[in-house]
Amino acid sequence: EMRRPLIAGNWKMHLTLAESAALARTVRTDLKETAVAEVVLAPPFTALSVVAQELAGSPVQLAAQDVFWELQGAYTGAISPRMLQDVGCRYVIIGHSERRQYFGETDATVNRKIKAVLTVGLQPMMCIGETLAQREAEETLAVITSQLTGGLADLLPEEINRLVIAYEPVWAIGTGRTATPEQAQEVHSFIRQLLAKQVRPDIAYGLRLLYGGSVTPDNIKVLAQAPDIDGALVGGASLKADSFLKIAALGN
Ligand code: G3H
Repeated sequence: EMRRPLIAGNWKMHLTLAESAALARTVRTDLKETAVAEVVLAPPFTALSVVAQELAGSPVQLAAQDVFWELQGAYTGAISPRMLQDVGCRYVIIGHSERRQYFGETDATVNRKIKAVLTVGLQPMMCIGETLAQREAEETLAVITSQLTGGLADLLPEEINRLVIAYEPVWAIGTGRTATPEQAQEVHSFIRQLLAKQVRPDIAYGLRLLYGGSVTPDNIKVLAQAPDIDGALVGGASLKADSFLKIAALGN
């Protein structure tokens, strides 16, 4: 298997600085040296610096939850790709459904952010996924297609090769209603085939496709066994070291 699994913890808008430092330290310390998966933590912006200090010299990587597309300037309240690189991030989550729902993120802004992040050498974790209404209307694959096409517009194959893509059905996020491995695998396989056609087969085969939505220590194992699921983007279960570490061990 040439795709190394990736388990990312998205802390969303949770934890104090002290709690962030403690959680990062426990993950770092208790993560098995033989861990198969690459492990990534995505704290809120304000905690990136303290978490970076805790993770220094460890294989656990740092991610931001969002970014703006300009590198610097008069953009009050915004955080640039260069700032994220400076604080020690390797990855940036882009287009999470909560950003789309509450902050006006669109496929066009996702596309601008991906391009900006790539210019400073960071790796975008692009999130896509359908709502419950879209799934019930049997629009899932059409939604996935338009989110991928819009988000990846004008990118070169070599640039797309730097991405991680997370499939997060909105109806499964924070609801306790996980997609079945069959439901997730169907969409993951579709994403890979679409990328093979529209980008390049070798790049599509090498890209890591994460599943997100109510991942727990109990369901990660079967999800990760699906042929096109290469790990998970974990929300709620990433806020406790014991559950996150079990997921990072892929339920083994
Ligand atoms: O980014 C993480 C996803 O939104 C999943 O969140 O594990 O709390 O459902 P959740």
